Amino acid sequence: MSVTIKSEREISLMRRAGEILAETHVQLAKALRAGMTTWEIDRLGEEIIRSYGCIPSFKDYDGYPASICVSVNDEVVHGIPSKQRFLKDGDIVSLDAGVIYKGYHSDAARTYGIGEISQEARRLIQVTRECFYVGIKHALVGNRLGEVSAAIQDYAEGHGYGVVRDLTGHGIGTQLHEDPQIPNFATKKKGIRLQEGMTLAIEPMINMGRSDVCWLDDDWTCVTEDGSLSAHYENTILIRKDGPEILSLPAEESAGWYAQAVGA
Ligand code: MF3
Ligand code: CO
Repeated sequence: MSVTIKSEREISLMRRAGEILAETHVQLAKALRAGMTTWEIDRLGEEIIRSYGCIPSFKDYDGYPASICVSVNDEVVHGIPSKQRFLKDGDIVSLDAGVIYKGYHSDAARTYGIGEISQEARRLIQVTRECFYVGIKHALVGNRLGEVSAAIQDYAEGHGYGVVRDLTGHGIGTQLHEDPQIPNFATKKKGIRLQEGMTLAIEPMINMGRSDVCWLDDDWTCVTEDGSLSAHYENTILIRKDGPEILSLPAEESAGWYAQAVGA
């Protein structure tokens, strides 16, 4: 498959898919509390997504059994919601969700702290989010994709963190995963040149310790090998001539993202 360029009609559908996902995350964040199970998060998430007439895109994707990936503490991504897994004070939890609106996908992830979390955990969550913003600043027409990747890696490693290498971001559109792959680290290949109308899911996955990960016996849950905490932050973005647009943020946040990102 090659990288697809979206028409204005497709872009409006993806924008709506992104808005609905942004709102889903806002509502999920409000519901998070110690004592709830990760299964309840999944149920609520699916309910919200369906209330907009959308389909949760992760459900049954390659056999994934839920709608929301819920990954706690050392779980990096793709944690499977469970009635036995209770959130507790001091946990960090990554919620990853995708919706399909009229055939078009959006994909976004956020990491939150439950109750009082350590200063180190707060820093990890913040820096992971900043990694996304540091990366997207390079997502300009004519730039190589590798510039985005390298910026994310430099920023994360500059804070002493490990960048997950086994999983990457991706193009997105009528498919959840389209070309190109978007590593969060520099590779020998410089990557494609970015063009107006490309839609991409940029998703730094950052470990407090080493970058190595492994998989649990469920074959989905990706965890840090050293047991260190991991955070995830993802948005679906659109490459525009006048700079990137973030499709999966609430409208208020989306408008001011650049100033907020760089603290200007
Ligand atoms: N954000 C993840 C990704 O882009 C979500 C996929 S989970 C799956 O790969 F269950 F759908 F596989
Ligand atoms: Co993704």
